[in-house]
Amino acid sequence: MPPCGTWLQPLLALIVSASLTRSHSCPSRCLCPDNHTVNCTSQGLVGVPDSIPLDVRRLLLSNNWIPWIPSDFLVLYTDLVYLDLRNNSLSQLDPGTLSSSSRLVFLDLGSNNLTEIPSGMFGESKSLIKLRLGNNPYLRMIGRDAFSGLSALRELDLEKNAFTVLDVRVLEPLASLRMLRLEGNPWLCNCHFAKLFAWLYQNRQKLPTGMEGIECSLPPDGLRVPLSVFSEDSFRECRGALTLTDCLIVIFSGISVSFAAIVTSFLLASIVHCFQRISKTSKGDEEEGKD
Ligand SMILES: *[C@@H]1O[C@H](CO)[C@@H](O)[C@H](O)[C@H]1NC(C)=O
Ligand SMILES: *[C@@H]1O[C@H](CO)[C@@H](O)[C@H](O)[C@H]1NC(C)=O
Ligand SMILES: *[C@@H]1O[C@H](CO)[C@@H](O)[C@H](O)[C@H]1NC(C)=O
Ligand SMILES: *[C@@H]1O[C@H](CO)[C@@H](O)[C@H](O)[C@H]1NC(C)=O
Repeated sequence: MPPCGTWLQPLLALIVSASLTRSHSCPSRCLCPDNHTVNCTSQGLVGVPDSIPLDVRRLLLSNNWIPWIPSDFLVLYTDLVYLDLRNNSLSQLDPGTLSSSSRLVFLDLGSNNLTEIPSGMFGESKSLIKLRLGNNPYLRMIGRDAFSGLSALRELDLEKNAFTVLDVRVLEPLASLRMLRLEGNPWLCNCHFAKLFAWLYQNRQKLPTGMEGIECSLPPDGLRVPLSVFSEDSFRECRGALTLTDCLIVIFSGISVSFAAIVTSFLLASIVHCFQRISKTSKGDEEEGKD
């Protein structure tokens, strides 16, 4: 019997050369401007190309029609630092798909069709600094622990999604957060919003549009108002065991106060105007009297 080495060596050589060719080829329809960048932007792709070099660091797949990514995708591309999947057709990701992304710094999943960000989706992506999840028009659910491992995350985009409310415990683990986009969501300013409001108020310097740029709708008629019309006191009564209606009255009373102020000043102005007219008329009468 021949020793193992005689057949193992050619086999190993074959594997090594195969993986070398693989790591130096550029997928068809993509550009590889340097050894670590694969750019497949706007190529009408309906799936992730399968001959991406294993040592890729920057992978650009935006403006395609990719509906899903294999769950072992990041297990293969362990050097990946930058992954752009913006403007594709992703509606969900298998649990754990992104959880092995230990080097990933930038991830763009904006302008897709995601509906939910489940807990554990990003695992312990401790290197992640920018995460873009905006412009997913059906995205309205985020698992409570979805962001809990993202200790380095500085920028989080959640704008133009379908959120009416967000559990503030989702945001609390983000110790490094500097910028948060929440504008363009159908936020509902009822008592369920109270804790998020308090957090936003305390972290308002992290909102690029400020409180002014985030609108919420007031039940019952859905009037949209910027968050800047509220103060922490607006939601104070929500802490007790009040019903929703009670809270609405409380929230409305704040607005009613300013409305009452406007009405009062209008009435005052009218009264003043009337008095002026009356005094003019009486002056006119006096003048008529002189005649
Ligand atoms: C890219 O890879 C090839 C083959 O390994 C190598 O010869 C070349 O120097 C590399 N280029 C750069 C810019 O690193
Ligand atoms: C990727 O390729 C597109 C053209 O297909 C080009 O417009 C874009 O600038 C490239 N991006 C990078 C980062 O190389
Ligand atoms: C999104 O991708 C599609 C398909 O490539 C393209 O037609 C469209 O212009 C892109 N939209 C944006 C906002 O880039
Ligand atoms: C996006 O998701 C919604 C809700 O799941 C679905 O009704 C719609 O058809 C999807 N759109 C596309 C373009 O996949």
